[in-house]
Amino acid sequence: MGKIIAVALPKGGVGKTTTAVNLAFALALKKRQTLLIDLDPAGCCSSSLGFNKEKINGDMFDVFNFSKSLLHVIQKTDQENLSFIPLKNLNYKDEVRLSKLATNQALLRNVLRAEAHSFDFIIIDTPPYLIGLTTDALIAADSVLVPVITGKFSMDAVDKILEHMDYIKRNFNQHLAVEGILMSNYEYNAKVSFTAKKELYAKYPDLILRTVIPKNVAIVEATFYNKPSIKHNPSAKSSVAYLQLADEIIEKNLFGYYQVLTDIDVKDTIREK
Ligand SMILES: Nc1ncnc2c1ncn2[C@@H]1O[C@H](COP(=O)(O)OP(=O)(O)OP(=O)(O)O)[C@@H](O)[C@H]1O
Ligand SMILES: [Mg+2]
Repeated sequence: MGKIIAVALPKGGVGKTTTAVNLAFALALKKRQTLLIDLDPAGCCSSSLGFNKEKINGDMFDVFNFSKSLLHVIQKTDQENLSFIPLKNLNYKDEVRLSKLATNQALLRNVLRAEAHSFDFIIIDTPPYLIGLTTDALIAADSVLVPVITGKFSMDAVDKILEHMDYIKRNFNQHLAVEGILMSNYEYNAKVSFTAKKELYAKYPDLILRTVIPKNVAIVEATFYNKPSIKHNPSAKSSVAYLQLADEIIEKNLFGYYQVLTDIDVKDTIREK
């Protein structure tokens, strides 16, 4: 089973969707079998990948509704190694229904573990609130990637997600870890960014990722072309940063892998003696 990473923060507009889409795309470019799952009823991942939501036959709603299996709603994308499960535009009635279905909190975890073995990474985009689908994602995930922008409300929301993770760990998923806090949409020339960065390092010294995603107009431009920004403008500083983020995450998880091997080697050596 690959690694399931939920991209989450209970605050809108911090770069969750941008990060989920570009990170998934970057991991696929780096030859990792990657599945991107849209769990936000706003359904923005589809347009970022150039999918016409009306033409998609099968989505996460069908999975929660037990009308289709996970394998039947996985869409191939134009990018080699990248698959996608969308969430279509829901009308009010379906959105209410989905919020009720989402109270089946272990469903996502169970279907992913049963049917998504073949992926190296599963990246889940979540909505900007904790209840319902975000909670389901955290119960299903191995780790949480937390994008944060330099603003008081966004930084306060980090405490909120960490507190919620503690609750999830105590009650449902004891191994849930923080993949890292990602400074996104970072303005290198603004003093406030530096102040926020200092505050984040002071508060969560071990949780901040090395990679910083700069604020870059290439990201906004790409949304108008319905493409991930890495594809639309691969040389933009933000695209390079997302590729670095993929490297950092691959490296972190390789280390974990080798760490396990080393532990096994050590145990074997002890046993042999
Ligand atoms: N590095 C960046 N540089 C410039 N613009 C960015 C950057 N990252 C994100 N944006 C823009 O900021 C806006 C919010 O980003 P995004 O939709 O990814 O946030 P979100 O956390 O998913 O929001 P929501 O919680 O509402 O789903 C978008 O218009 C996006 O294009
Ligand atoms: Mg979003």
